[in-house]
Amino acid sequence: MDDLSKLLEGSLKEIRQAKDKPELEALRIKYLGRSKGILQRITKEIPSLPVGQRAGIGTKIRRTREKIEGALETAKPSFETAKSGATIDITAPGTKIETGSLHPLTKVIDEIKEIFHYLGFTWIDGPEAESDVYNFQKLNMPPEHPARDVQQTYYIDNDTLLRTHTSSMQVRYMENHKPPIRVLFPGRCYRRDMPDSTHLPSFYQVEGLLIDTQTSLTELLGSLEFFAKQFFGAKTKTRVYGHYFPYTEPSIEIEVYYPKRGWLEILGAGMVHPSVLRNGGINPDKYQGWAFGMGPDRLAMLKYGISDIRILYDNDLRFLNQF
Ligand code: DAH
Repeated sequence: MDDLSKLLEGSLKEIRQAKDKPELEALRIKYLGRSKGILQRITKEIPSLPVGQRAGIGTKIRRTREKIEGALETAKPSFETAKSGATIDITAPGTKIETGSLHPLTKVIDEIKEIFHYLGFTWIDGPEAESDVYNFQKLNMPPEHPARDVQQTYYIDNDTLLRTHTSSMQVRYMENHKPPIRVLFPGRCYRRDMPDSTHLPSFYQVEGLLIDTQTSLTELLGSLEFFAKQFFGAKTKTRVYGHYFPYTEPSIEIEVYYPKRGWLEILGAGMVHPSVLRNGGINPDKYQGWAFGMGPDRLAMLKYGISDIRILYDNDLRFLNQF
């Protein structure tokens, strides 16, 4: 009787440790096999036992057999699942993982950075809450200057405002960096405009600034034409005309030709005004510079044929999923 209990214990342990179906089958044969199974052999020995020991042994053998059978039955399904793949249908469509994509504005800004990177430019962020000094005064726009009127401004207090353009970074950067300078200032700007299909109170700009001992308006024009052709395609036509900005002299605007819509302005630019260089601690007798400011919103609208700027900010997935 004691031997049977030990046998049961040992067999259950072996079944638990079995690693696959063939091992289970081998254990079944070892213990329950019809001709050479251990339990069968013990059964055959019953008649040779002394009469006193025979009582109850049949029942004990039967119970042991049932327990081993039960353990084998329980162990089987785990191997069946893993082996045959019965419950894992590898052809079933999996759980769909939604992947995002970059926002079209981010793509346009990245592309502007990449194109100017060819020309040696890096980029840096700057504060959106800016002082009147950097946004206006150091750019030749003292209080009461009429050029402030075209940039309706959100003031936070008398000296602090939400920057109306990324040109606010020009003097900031000059104060902390020595020429040669080739840098972009991408970022968000704010103006008190009524929202309509081409205006929003918040929009993006990318500013460019180059300062060196020898540079020229021709170099500015060549660089901007290179940009337009890289961004819109090699056949893109551009034209330049004179303009006015207080912080550049001379000042220009650049238009690209759009077959369906004619000439459209894409950026303002010019040679950095000597007094702006001086405000940044740079000697205008030794250095010259050029600068430009472009609107990624406008560029995205032209490139992707978007007619309403507001779509860019709606976060409507039917729109965003197209990019
Ligand atoms: N700040 C101008 C605007 O917001 C754009 C601009 C024009 C930037 C001329 C410049 C520049 O750097 O030289 O419309």
